[in-house]
Order: sequence, then C-alpha cells, then structure tokens
Amino acid sequence: MVELLPSILSADFAHLADEVAAAERGGGTAIHVDVMDGHFVPNITLGPPVVKSLRKATSLPLDCHLMIENPNEFISAFADAGANWVSVHFEACTHLHRSLELIAQHGMKPGVVLNPATRIEVIRDILPMVHHVLIMSVNPGFGGQQFIGFSLEKIRRLAHLRRELGLAFRIEVDGGVAHDTVAQVVQAGADLLVAGNAVFGAGHPERDARALLAAARQAANE
Ligand code: DX5
Ligand code: ZN
Repeated sequence: MVELLPSILSADFAHLADEVAAAERGGGTAIHVDVMDGHFVPNITLGPPVVKSLRKATSLPLDCHLMIENPNEFISAFADAGANWVSVHFEACTHLHRSLELIAQHGMKPGVVLNPATRIEVIRDILPMVHHVLIMSVNPGFGGQQFIGFSLEKIRRLAHLRRELGLAFRIEVDGGVAHDTVAQVVQAGADLLVAGNAVFGAGHPERDARALLAAARQAANE
C-alpha cells in the first residue's frame, strides 16, 4: 500500500498544527520531519522541542529524518519528544549498526538514509534491522529541488534486493516527488512517498495531498 508522508519543511512554521491537520485530511498517514544541523547539510531547521509540539498536534506517526552529525547523541531526546520513526544517514554514521540498535532500544522504528551518490549495496548487511530505507532523490538540505533521475534505478535495485532477501522493510523516497515524478517512483517500487513542496508549496495542502496520493495510487493500481 502506497502512503503519503507530507514533509513539513515546506509548510508555514508559524501554523504547523493547521498545516499538519490539512495534510492529514488530504490523506497523509505519517508526518515527515526534516531535522538539519547546518553541518551535515547546509541548512538549519528544527529539533526535539518542535517534535514535542507536533506530538501534541497530531496522532499520526512522526517520521524524523535526521540530517545531523553525531545522531547517536540525540536519539533519546527525539524519543522523549515523541518521535516514532527515526532515520539516520549512512554517510553520518561511523557505527551505523549501533545507531540503528539505539533507535530500536528507545522504542522507535529505525530507518537508514542514503544520499544520491551512495550505492544501496553498502547497507545490505543491516537491512534486517530496519523498518524503512529512505532513498534521497535530491541532495538533502532544501525543499523544492529537482528529482534526480537515477534514483529510480536505485529504488528498483532496492526492491529487488528486498525480494531476494525475503525482507519487509518499507522503501521511502524523499526529494522532488511531485505530479510529474510520482508515477515513476511508485512503479519503481517505492511505498512511502515524502512530499514537501508538492503538498505545501501552493498553500492548499489538503487539496494537493489528496491529488498527489490519488496519482500515486493510480500508478500502483490500488
Ligand atoms: C530535503 C528533505 C525533504 C524535503 C523534500 O533535504 O529531506 O524531506 O522536504 O522536499 P520536496 O518534496 O519539496 O522535494
Ligand atoms: Zn526528508
């Protein structure tokens, strides 16, 4: 089943609760929260205090995408704030296995993220540990960027690997997912679709989430 995860990066941060509620009415089934530290990526966004406020504003799972250095130091803070899914970048973790264990030990669903230039083969051995693999289809840091085409081949290879290994992790795609790309992304094998600009960019999150999800489901024959 294909799911839509609205990314609040493109929402109006002064009205987050309203924005999230609208995206949920439009069919969003988890909220994607982009955490950036100004070191791992060239932008700064938000941290545990905002996650804590979001936790009170919605009952949907909060999918926290950590674009930060030293993520292990912050796992317990995100758990305390009410995060449900936490993903860490392969490129930011010297001890990825330990990071994923730490997330699970805190009762959250662990995910691993790959930048566009990172090959999926490097995470093969830890795939049994993850709830989701997040394939970045833009270089992380900003919303509204153009989808990088070769990500489709990575999604296909990851879906193939999932079948080969008999695993059930979800395949999440983040960056440039919009009306012109969503069908290809779904057909390549993605089942969790992150969308920021396509949901919040025009100021009509309910309408635009609903339309994007409908296009995704049609492409998936659901
Ligand atoms: C980018 C973030 C994305 C971002 C996607 O670094 O990880 O979650 O919100 O934005 P769009 O959907 O606008 O490409
Ligand atoms: Zn993200």
